[in-house]
Amino acid sequence: MKIAIINGPNLNLLGKREPTIYGNETFETFLNALKTEFSDIEFTYYQSNHEGFLIDKIHEVGFDFDGIILNAGAYTHTSIAIADAVSAINTPVIEVHISNVFKREPFRHHSYLSAVAKGSISGFGLNSYKLAVYSLIVNK
Ligand code: DQA
Repeated sequence: MKIAIINGPNLNLLGKREPTIYGNETFETFLNALKTEFSDIEFTYYQSNHEGFLIDKIHEVGFDFDGIILNAGAYTHTSIAIADAVSAINTPVIEVHISNVFKREPFRHHSYLSAVAKGSISGFGLNSYKLAVYSLIVNK
């Protein structure tokens, strides 16, 4: 099984960025543990702060992977272009958020991605990604 994890803007700063909201762990540390736990899954990881690069990666993995776990960061709330990229591909996309976006500012309550994703997971810290992996396994 091949799963791509795609992180959007500012998620390269996990571990340093607003730790009361996003925690103290770097994504690299978390990803290593995830790879160990799901050793039979082939993970590809990509992070970019740039909308077009995220779209390019969605196109690249969107036709022959078994799933994409996408945390588009703030582009979740603004990007029709990323939503169109998700609609354009065959691979199921799970939208994830580390924080519970519905407990936060009203501008975070709307997602352009939720309507085009297979499902959305929000509020479980980095374990949101782990729950997304489980969702892809059980729905395979
Ligand atoms: C986030 C929530 C977004 O509102 C925010 O802009 C992020 C991270 C999350 O994982 O909780 O960058 O997607």
